[in-house]
Amino acid sequence: MDIWQKLKDNLSAAGDRRIISLFANQSRFEDFSAEADGMLLDISKTNIDPAAMALLIQLAERSGVAEKRNAMFSGEKINTTEGRAVLHTALRSSETTPLIMDGEDIRPGVANTLQKMIKFADQVRSGDIAPPGGHRFTDIVNIGIGGSDLGPAMASLALAPYHDGPRCHFVSNIDGAHVSDVLKDLDPRKTLVLIASKTFTTVETMTNADTALNWLRTGVGDDVSEHLAAISTNLDLTAAMGILPDRVFGFADWVGGRYSLWGPFGLAIMLSIGPQNFRAFLAGGAAMDQHFKLAPFRVNLPVLMALVGIWHRNICKYQTRAVLPYDQRLARLPAYLQQLDMESNGKRVAIDGQTLPQESGPVVWGEPGTNGQHAFFQLLHQGTDIIPAEFLIAAEGHEPELVHHHDMLKANCLAQSEALLLGRSYEDAQNIAAALGFEGEEQQTQAAHRTFPGNRPSVTLAYKKLDSFTLGQIIALYEHRVFVEGAIWGVNSFDQWGVELGKELANALLPVVQGGDSSGKDGSTVGLLRKLATPS
Ligand code: F6P
Repeated sequence: MDIWQKLKDNLSAAGDRRIISLFANQSRFEDFSAEADGMLLDISKTNIDPAAMALLIQLAERSGVAEKRNAMFSGEKINTTEGRAVLHTALRSSETTPLIMDGEDIRPGVANTLQKMIKFADQVRSGDIAPPGGHRFTDIVNIGIGGSDLGPAMASLALAPYHDGPRCHFVSNIDGAHVSDVLKDLDPRKTLVLIASKTFTTVETMTNADTALNWLRTGVGDDVSEHLAAISTNLDLTAAMGILPDRVFGFADWVGGRYSLWGPFGLAIMLSIGPQNFRAFLAGGAAMDQHFKLAPFRVNLPVLMALVGIWHRNICKYQTRAVLPYDQRLARLPAYLQQLDMESNGKRVAIDGQTLPQESGPVVWGEPGTNGQHAFFQLLHQGTDIIPAEFLIAAEGHEPELVHHHDMLKANCLAQSEALLLGRSYEDAQNIAAALGFEGEEQQTQAAHRTFPGNRPSVTLAYKKLDSFTLGQIIALYEHRVFVEGAIWGVNSFDQWGVELGKELANALLPVVQGGDSSGKDGSTVGLLRKLATPS
């Protein structure tokens, strides 16, 4: 019998077993949690029992997770549809042993790029690189989208307590409201515009860059080159835009967009938190890499997190997972993970092009707690769907004078996973209703509404404090979790063909939106074009 079937049989045999019953084993928490460099992952509040865990580990082994992991770290071209290696891990590595790619050691190039970033960041932060007119750069505007925006925007917010450089702003959406709202409060004379696009052809980014360039020109005159820098692999196009060569930070094609914040796409972060903190961020990622490479699967955080994901998606058939940071500064983490996870594993064919025999990546969504509690947690607790939750919480905050806030944050986080686990029985709800004075049928109705089924799974990631090192650990942990899940599903987690069709159609529709011929379009699109026509 295959492992998948054995896992399904394990779930069937568990019947209506309650997760809490697994804690009859006194060592449940110790057995179903693991720690790496101060980062704790608790998976004990899931319905995975020791037998299921053994099967899941076997599944990972037989799916070749270790071999695929080694192939990734060693620079094999595992992104087969694009013929590329996947080496974002090299950007955060301090290893010196040569890493050969197409006959060349890539480590010196990585080190040089990092040095170039550090020099530039130091000079901007110190004022050695300054705009003409005796000013300093007070503001940085990062213009990019997808992986060229979500990572730096998420990390910049996460590390706000470490900001001691220029303020960072992010423009991504093609909606003119975005660029307009960001620029309206800035002074072009003191603003550095960072155009972040791997290809330098992405329509949103190029359009926003063009608008920002015009805004700069109105403020400082025709020569705006001193106000520009770029992150791109397309040196011809950066030169065509007039960006000085020493202000262009390039990188190789073995770094995918959604994995790119460790290198030049992290420049906005480095400018605001400084090179030293950025290095700590890299060190956190590298520490998680080492853990992923060396720890046995049974205590390997990314592997365990992935196996929980597989269990919930393929065995329990849950369609979504909620990421719930009890850490306000991780507010953009769910959006960041949506790209990381859903662009990587939202695939319907395997690497060889065959249709997958089962479900792949789930919908990932979330919001910080406690805000989410006052919005969608109702559904998590009493809705008809079961949604596995992932909580993130720090032992301490950055506001020593507000410890009572942090205590309440912790209490709320733990209360939510406890409530999901235990629920409230109908009998308890009936007692509450009775105590409130309800009687007879009304008491039963009230009790039904106040009953919580519980037995809903969650995992918790607990760490000391959201500092640069910890953020690096968290991001690398999620990257590798996505990798392991993708390896088990047999998909290519590093291409993104699913985003192409919409781009092509948008290009074709632009002239139609601007008054061109709509013949050949479907009835709905024609009707909407009519409704959206610019009033004359
Ligand atoms: O929309 C898909 C995508 O290719 C992402 O993977 C990428 O992060 C984003 O677009 C931006 O691309 P670029 O950096 O080339 O502008």
